Parts: sequence; structure tokens; C-alpha cells
Amino acid sequence: MEITRIVGGRRLCGDVVVGGSKNACLPMLAASLLTCEECVIHNVPALSDVVTMIAILRELGVSVNRIGEHSVKIHARNASFVVPEIYMQKMRASVCLMGALIGRTGKAIVPIPGGCVIGCRPIDLHIKGFRALGCRTVRRRDFFVMDGSRLHAEKITLSGERGSTVTGTINVIMAAIKAPGESVIEGAAVEPEVSDFCGYLSAMGAKISGVGTSTLKVTGGIALHGCEYTVIGDRIEAGTFVCAGLITGGDVRIFGLERGLLDPFLVGLRRIGARVSQDDDGKITVQSGGQLSYADIVTGPHPGFPTDLQAQFCALQTQSCGESTIVEGVYPSRFMYAAELGKMGAAIRVENASARVSGPCALRGACLRATDLRSSAALYLAGLCASGETFVYDAHHIDRGYENLEMKLRAIGANIRRV
Ligand code: EPZ
Repeated sequence: MEITRIVGGRRLCGDVVVGGSKNACLPMLAASLLTCEECVIHNVPALSDVVTMIAILRELGVSVNRIGEHSVKIHARNASFVVPEIYMQKMRASVCLMGALIGRTGKAIVPIPGGCVIGCRPIDLHIKGFRALGCRTVRRRDFFVMDGSRLHAEKITLSGERGSTVTGTINVIMAAIKAPGESVIEGAAVEPEVSDFCGYLSAMGAKISGVGTSTLKVTGGIALHGCEYTVIGDRIEAGTFVCAGLITGGDVRIFGLERGLLDPFLVGLRRIGARVSQDDDGKITVQSGGQLSYADIVTGPHPGFPTDLQAQFCALQTQSCGESTIVEGVYPSRFMYAAELGKMGAAIRVENASARVSGPCALRGACLRATDLRSSAALYLAGLCASGETFVYDAHHIDRGYENLEMKLRAIGANIRRV
């Protein structure tokens, strides 16, 4: 049982450097299957999800070696097309192996990916895209058996009732690379991680146009080669540190994130009076001062308010003056953390896909239980501003998406430690 102890009440001040993007590098690791040449990826964060993805690749017969702390060399001389079941339940990003294996071997046997507490995680749009490209996909008990031996280019519409799908877009791009001709993907996700992923594939020799827009054109039938690539910074980690600075009334500077990637979140923060800016070289400056006010937000696909920062924003809003409504437009049940914050005295009312947060509220330390990656970050933030001690149980969830979070927070003044 991993437990983190936090003693709140300290202003955080200083500089912090974020790591590479989890949600960009995980699909890149999978996409290294698309060539039998060697790929090197830099700025790979040391996360448990990265460890899991590397373990899966090795199970598939791929050679994966770390070079230093944040670089990985992958060489898929050959690759099995059967993904072991134990992994698919552990990590959603393993779903990207479907497209990678179809793109590499033309076939795949992949367990049904697991759900998680933030809500159901369907892959109907992924399957729709694969089938549109001519990939026979049938479900056999808890597996998908896929035959992509006769792929053809196609025009595909990927968005669903909740908008675009990040991993779905990534998956269909990889399968389209195998389909001779030019495929068009409409309703593609435009998250920065998708654009960075396309940058990686382009470095491997892929021909993808429309990157950054919701209409991508992929030229299939081109053999890809090895490459060397550096992952973008993690905007969710950066946004979490911005909230840490604000919730403790501190002054924090954040390095390692490209300019513009956090804009949708910064727009939301400025609406509550937060003094946050990002300069041309990407440095984010958080200057606390004055009482934060409230603002109603709705999360949505990029460039909407990022759902992965919804819990952190809610924790921050417990310290703002007024009542905010937070509507979760991507994962309606992504409020597991609210009851835990209630144990600290937070006034949060969850109704269906929205939460109403009243503040400011003097939080008091409590014993809390983490349920998932981003909720855990919200509990940490609340502990940093609460009076007294907070203990967060099942703190291992944090390690899925944050590298050495406690150490980085201690370096800017927090009294926090994994016990
Ligand atoms: C990616 O998940 C991220 N994960 C998530 O980050 C992130 O919250 C999410 O995108 C939205 O930005 C990775 O990239 C590994 P989706 P993904 O497919 O791709 C519906 C984190 O904390 N949908 O974009 O799995 C779905 O139900 C994680 O780092 C379908 O209906 O999310 C959801 O409402 C959490 N059918 C919406 O689309 C499908 O076939 C977005 O899902 C696929 C998705």
C-alpha cells in the first residue's frame, strides 16, 4: 500500500521542469512496431505506464533498451501479433497496439481494453475506422481478432457523440499507413499529443497532411524507416504544477512545455483571476496574489478545457470566492475525487455530469483514498493547502502519469513524502 503524507499550509516557490508527454510517448512506443529499423525516442518520462508499454513490446519480441534516464531505443526486428491479456486491463494506451500491429503485421489478436473509474472507455470508433479500411475485426470472447491482410484506402469519419477520439485517431492513422492509397480521416482528434505523434510518424517517413486539423490525409503503402525523435512536454503535468502554485498562494515557474500547448487551460485560469503567463520560450510564470474568483467551465476535446485537468481545477476552486459549475463533457462520471475532498470540508455537489463547487473553504487534513491518476493529483493539491496532515492511500496511481511528483513538489517547498 503506497501512502503519501502531506502537511499543508506552505507557499510553493521556485522552478520546476516537466517531463515528456505521457499521452504522446505511449503511442510512439507502440508505433515503433511500424518499422523493422531502430527508433530512438528522447524525453520519455519515467512513468509506470511507460514501464507497462515497454513490457508489452518486449512480450511481443521487440528489443527495447533505455539510454540514460529519459531516452529509449526500440528495435522491432520482428513482432508477434498476439497481445497478452494481463496488460490490456492495466493501461488504456495499450489499445494503440491494435493499429500498430495491423500496420506492422496486417493482423492482431488483442484483448478488450480495460475500463477505469473515470468512466467507460469504448472503442467502437476505433473498430469503425479499422473496418472502414478493410480490416476484418471480430470479437471472440474477451479478444478482438483482426485481419488486415487486404486493407484499402478509405475516407473515414471518426468523431462520435462525445466528439473526437485521441487514441482512436492514433490507431486509425497507423492502420491507414498500411492501406495503399490516400486515406482521409475526418473528425480526427486535434490534441497536441496527436500532432506530436504524427510528427514521430513523419520522422519515420510517413506522409500525413492536415496535422493539427480535424481532417488528416494519410498516404498508405509506404515502408517506414527508423528515426530519432523528442517528445513534447506534458501539458497536464504543467497544468498540475500551475494549480499547485495557485492553491498555495505561491510563485512558481514551470519549464519544459512548448508555448501554446496549455492555452485552453490558461484561458480558464485567467477567467478566475489567476495571474499565469507563458512567454515565447515556453516558461510559465505563476504569480499568486489576490482572491481567486469563480468561473463555470465545460471540459471538451482540444481546444476545449482539458478533461485531464478538471479534477485539479476543481480542487483549486475550493479556494476561490463564489460558486463554480464544472461540467464534464468527455467522461461524465469523472468526479470520483469529490467525495474525498468532502472529507476535508470541501463543498462540492455532484449531479450527473457536473459538480458545483462553493468557496473559499478552509480545508482540513484527512485520510483520503486515490482512485485514478488525475484524481490523485487533485487530492495532493488539496492536501497542500489544507491545515494539518493529509494521508493519500493508494498513491501508486500518481506514478502512472507523474515522474517523481513528491520530489518535485518538495523542491519548491512542499512538505510531502511517500511513506
Ligand atoms: C486519451 O484517452 C487520453 N489517454 C486521456 O488521458 C484523455 O482524458 C482523453 O484522451 C481525452 O483527452 C491517452 O491518450 C492514453 P478518447 P482516449 O478516445 O483516447 C468517447 C490521462 O489521464 N469514445 O479521446 O482513450 C469516450 O467514451 C488519460 O492521461 C467513444 O465513444 O480518450 C470519451 O467520452 C485519461 N468511442 C471520449 O470519446 C470510442 O471508440 C474521448 O475518449 C472512443 C472514445
